Amino acid sequence: MIRGFVAPRASSPENPLRLAVLISGSGSGLATLLNHQQNKSCVHKTVLVISDKTDAGGLGHAERYGVPNTSIPLSKKISGLERRIEQESRVLDAIEESGAELVVLSGYMRILTAHFVSRWKGRLINIHPSLLPLFPGAHAHEDVLAGGVNESGCTVHLVDENVDTGPILAQKTVPVHKEDTVDSLSERVKKAEHVLYPDVLDRFCRNPLSFDIGWSVDINQL
Ligand code: GRF
Repeated sequence: MIRGFVAPRASSPENPLRLAVLISGSGSGLATLLNHQQNKSCVHKTVLVISDKTDAGGLGHAERYGVPNTSIPLSKKISGLERRIEQESRVLDAIEESGAELVVLSGYMRILTAHFVSRWKGRLINIHPSLLPLFPGAHAHEDVLAGGVNESGCTVHLVDENVDTGPILAQKTVPVHKEDTVDSLSERVKKAEHVLYPDVLDRFCRNPLSFDIGWSVDINQL
């Protein structure tokens, strides 16, 4: 059975929403978020950072900001779907234990199973480096450049059971230049992400029901 979207509670600076942030890489988005959360009027705070890569640079940002962090890599002892499910179940346990109320994907390069999504649906949010529904998937910048389009950007969306198809919360556009490479485009899009993601998280945490995405229920009604 495919479940609907369950909204988190509405938060305030006095009682900020607790976030678990999942990363895989350099964590420039995470660093921007943690810096933003230093602001006393912020309505969310990060209680746990999880990386699936032991050497992710983003773990260093979590350390510097004094945020609990851990790496949960794929097991070397098993393979295939079993390995994926086993890693995810450790991620789910860590999130549960942290008391997080919203899961924020910030450059997390693993596709989540329907089991994970159904547990957090409505409280699982992602940023993707293209203007969805255009250019979904792991190679957005390559595909944008191959597509010869003159604008790209980033999309914040709720995660559903498929890849990069969940309800869109907000987008920000950047130009694509003729001489762009994957690196130059990625840098420009990241700058847009660093403005858009904290802003959408502020609005979403303060009043999730203000986003008209077809909620099935809000958490206070469960
Ligand atoms: C971001 O562009 C994000 O949209 C994509 O991966 C990148 C992560 O960058 N999925 P960083 O790790 O936050 O620097």
